Amino acid sequence: MRQTVRPARSLRGVIAPPGDKSISHRAAILNAIAAGEAVVENFQRGADCLSTLRCLRLLGVHWEWQDESRLRLAGAGRRGLREPAAVLNCGNSGTTIRLLCGLLAAQPFFSALTGDASLRSRPMARVIEPLREMGARIWGREADTRAPLAVQGGPDLIGVRYRLPVASAQVKSALVLAGLYAEGETVISEPAPARDHTERMLRAMGAQIAFGEGPIVAVSPLRRELAALSLRVPGDISAAAPFIVLGAVHPDAEIRISRVGINPTRTGILDALRMMGADLTVEEERTWGAEPVADIVVRSSQLRGAVIGGALVPRTIDELPLLALAGCFAQGETIITDASELRVKESDRIQTTASSLRKLGAEVEERPDGLRVWGPQRLQGKALSSRGDHRLAMMAAAAGALAQGETVIHNSDAADVSYPRFWRDLEALRKR
Ligand code: S3P
Repeated sequence: MRQTVRPARSLRGVIAPPGDKSISHRAAILNAIAAGEAVVENFQRGADCLSTLRCLRLLGVHWEWQDESRLRLAGAGRRGLREPAAVLNCGNSGTTIRLLCGLLAAQPFFSALTGDASLRSRPMARVIEPLREMGARIWGREADTRAPLAVQGGPDLIGVRYRLPVASAQVKSALVLAGLYAEGETVISEPAPARDHTERMLRAMGAQIAFGEGPIVAVSPLRRELAALSLRVPGDISAAAPFIVLGAVHPDAEIRISRVGINPTRTGILDALRMMGADLTVEEERTWGAEPVADIVVRSSQLRGAVIGGALVPRTIDELPLLALAGCFAQGETIITDASELRVKESDRIQTTASSLRKLGAEVEERPDGLRVWGPQRLQGKALSSRGDHRLAMMAAAAGALAQGETVIHNSDAADVSYPRFWRDLEALRKR
């Protein structure tokens, strides 16, 4: 499919982004091993979370839709998963394959995991190696570095102390899940705090888990069943991000993003844009279960360039392509650094971001660990491709609304991975 985006004369209105993708995955996986029934409202129905649900069904977990975004799931209990009779296909979803890898390493049966061409090219040694230190038996293609993966789970894992070489919530969560079944404590330290949704949810379900004081997580083996947790999933700040950037950059904009998650491990985009001078307010803060939620109001702003690096990077990892776009409209230089992880996302996002923005006429330098952008610049609409990457599709759409002329985005349905309604929501904000 392809979408044509024209410049917007003004952008005004309210957006309620879909439920948070990371939290939806965890709500399904953790409730699958809990005892009892949970109802998850505002569950994100993008392709990635559907991959998780399909895998769970193959593992013997019962779930059903009660309405469009309300999921009812019957927990199988901590020992209730069963050997899948088919390969678990994780589609495009890194979160599905890595979290399941940790969970399945501890189950007393065999499973095989695979995914689409993008997922099969992404690094898996980062979960295989630490899980093997815990005693897991996992193998993968290309000398145990890529999916498909084979997991011969077992009940004999042992807790370890492990220092993550890169900040990754997926790897951290995989080890936490394995740690729930291991003998002794599992202690994970991170170079900088990555999203902590797994930790928050597990604590709310009764697990013994210490986190939040410095970049260290300690989880104890489950001595009793996890309590099923019904929850309402906050809106996804990563899905809101194209609109946050559009609101800040467009000369005539005021956009309210309603009931979006503002977990501090996810709000790097707000801090980065504030550093660049954006007019952002966070209103009506409240908590939904274990997660903080608020409305964000963003208005047209004069941005200036900034350096985005260090501990800010894991807090805004999926929004960095959009911050590069913001940099095109900011006065001076914007540098994104310490972000080589971008090279191993759904696409090589350093390369794909730079090449998309350059096609629109931007001056962008690709660096080994990030990007350098000069602004302000005028972008000119052209034909772009999502390169099969949902975040790139949405960045290209935001760029198209800010550029002159028409931007055609090929392979635009990549956005369905995390935001099936994206194109309609973008259209609804646009005042021609
Ligand atoms: C995610 C963690 C991040 C992020 C991804 C979702 C998660 O990946 O980029 O979109 O749900 O845990 P890494 O763990 O590889 O940093």
